[in-house]
Amino acid sequence: MGGTSREDGPVDVRSLVQGEWLELEIGPGRGGFVFERAAAAPAGLIGLEVRRKWATIVDQRLAKAGLGARARVFAEDAGLALPRLGPDGSIRRIFLHFPDPWWKKRHAKRLVIVKQGFVAEMARLLEPGGELFVQTDVEERAALYEAEIRACPLFVPFGDEGGSPALANNPYNAESPREKRAIVDGLPVHRLRFRRV
Ligand SMILES: C[S@@+](CC[C@H](N)C(=O)[O-])C[C@H]1O[C@@H](n2cnc3c(N)ncnc32)[C@H](O)[C@@H]1O
Repeated sequence: MGGTSREDGPVDVRSLVQGEWLELEIGPGRGGFVFERAAAAPAGLIGLEVRRKWATIVDQRLAKAGLGARARVFAEDAGLALPRLGPDGSIRRIFLHFPDPWWKKRHAKRLVIVKQGFVAEMARLLEPGGELFVQTDVEERAALYEAEIRACPLFVPFGDEGGSPALANNPYNAESPREKRAIVDGLPVHRLRFRRV
């Protein structure tokens, strides 16, 4: 991870950070969730952020806060990076907070979740019983994500009620910047959780 051609091969996620278990955030943006999650749980945290500027800023802030061994953000396109990550079943939770900056319908194909094979890659990396948590303030995107994830037989809904992935609240004691803003603005947040079978 990190950009040089020598580093384009397979990556063992266990070599990236230390923690009692591993969690992956896709598209951390300005990074608030990583800091709060690091305070909330003894997990090793890996962020993949396609915007190099923010990946670098957040990674440096984590190091300055003394969290560098336990939490890192890498400048990577998750769609390209996930297939390089291993071993299979090494990650306990994957978080996707508001992964939809392009809200127009014609931009739906740019959404990382709906890219060919992306959900299957997340299933491959999650340990049995591992969790996939996705949240958005765009209702139609929530429906799209739910359909995409339900289509993968390796995921089962793990929401508040049996058979549904919908969660009323975020159970991870950590909020993303966009989540905080949505709450302040009174926007409904659609939260989905699935469990890796
Ligand atoms: C709407 S922002 C949300 C940021 C943050 N998750 C939050 O909730 O505040 C979406 C983030 O996903 C990142 N992103 C989009 N596509 C990505 C990809 N393929 N790989 C990694 N990050 C991606 C964007 O750069 C941006 O930081």
